[in-house]
Amino acid sequence: MEKVIETVKDNKLLITGAAIAVTTGILLKTIISSKKDKKVYEKDVVYVADFQGKNKDLPSYSPFVLKVISILEYCNIRYEVDCTGNLGPNPRGTLPFIRYNDEFVYDSYFILQWISKEFKHVTEKMEQSINNERDQAIDNITKRFIDEGLSYLGAYYRWVVPEYNKIIIPRLLAAIENPILNSIIHSVANSGAIKKYKSHLGNLSLDEVNSVSQTDIESLSKLLGSKKFIFGEHLSMADISMFSSLAQVYYVPVDTPIRLFLLEKQNLVKYVENVKSTIFSDAKWELLKQ
Ligand SMILES: *[C@@H]1O[C@H](CO)[C@@H](O)[C@H](O)[C@H]1NC(C)=O
Ligand SMILES: *[C@@H]1O[C@H](CO)[C@@H](O)[C@H](O)[C@H]1NC(C)=O
Repeated sequence: MEKVIETVKDNKLLITGAAIAVTTGILLKTIISSKKDKKVYEKDVVYVADFQGKNKDLPSYSPFVLKVISILEYCNIRYEVDCTGNLGPNPRGTLPFIRYNDEFVYDSYFILQWISKEFKHVTEKMEQSINNERDQAIDNITKRFIDEGLSYLGAYYRWVVPEYNKIIIPRLLAAIENPILNSIIHSVANSGAIKKYKSHLGNLSLDEVNSVSQTDIESLSKLLGSKKFIFGEHLSMADISMFSSLAQVYYVPVDTPIRLFLLEKQNLVKYVENVKSTIFSDAKWELLKQ
C-alpha cells in the first residue's frame, strides 16, 4: 500500500512517499530522507529491510523481521538491518525482504528457506534436537501456526482495539517527532491495518479474540512443558518463530489481554528470556534497538 503524504521536515515542505507497508504484523515506513547517496552493498552480507524508526522495545516491531534477524544472528551469518527504504525493489510492499549480492528474496517464510539452502551449516544447527520426521513435521506446522495464527492475534490488539492501539502505535512511531505528522501517519496506518487484521481473524469480536488467545497461549505453554526449547536442548526453526512472535507481546510493555495470559505462564516467560539470551548478547540486543 503506497500513500503519498506531505510532510514538513527541517522547515522544508517535502513530498514523501510513505510506504505504509502494513504487511504482516506490524507497521510502517516513512521515507523522510531526501538524501540520495548511493550505498555500497558489501559482498556476502545479508541486508534485511525493516521499517524505519526507532525500535524502543526490541530489535524490530515486526515478528517477521525479528525472525530473520534472529536466525542470522544465531547462525553467525554476516548481516545488516537496513531501514532506509532504499534497499531495493519491493514489489509486494511487505517486509521483510533481503538483499544478498544483488539477489532479492521476499517473505520471511521463503527467506528462512533460502538461508537454509545458501548457508550449509544452518539446517544441521537448527535440527540438533529434531529426532525424526514427526518432529520435523511438528516443527513445520508450529512455525506456520505461529506465523499465520499467533502473530495475527498480537497484531489484532495493536491495531484493532483502540484502547491498546493508542498506546502501542505511538511507541512504533517514536522516531517521528513532529506531532501532527505523527498523528497523520498513525491514522493512515490504522485505516489499512484495522481492516486487514480484523478480516484475517474472521471478524471475531474482542471477547472471541481473547478466548482464542488464552487457549493458544495455554497450548503453547503445554507444548513447551518443562523443556528448555520446543524440542529440548537446542533451538529449532519453530523456536525462532515462537520467540519472535511472543517477544512482540512480552517486550512491548503494554498489558493487552494476550500479554496477561502470557505473563501467567512462567514457563513461556522463561522461554522468551532464554531464547533471547541464547541468540543475542545484551549489547547486540541494545544495539539493534536503535
Ligand atoms: C518441512 O518443511 C520443509 C520445507 O521448509 C520440507 O522440505 C520438509 O519436507 C518438511 N518436513 C516435513 C516432515 O513435513
Ligand atoms: C470482514 O468484514 C468485512 C466488512 O465488514 C468483509 O469485507 C470481509 O470479507 C469480512 N471478512 C471475513 C473473513 O469474514
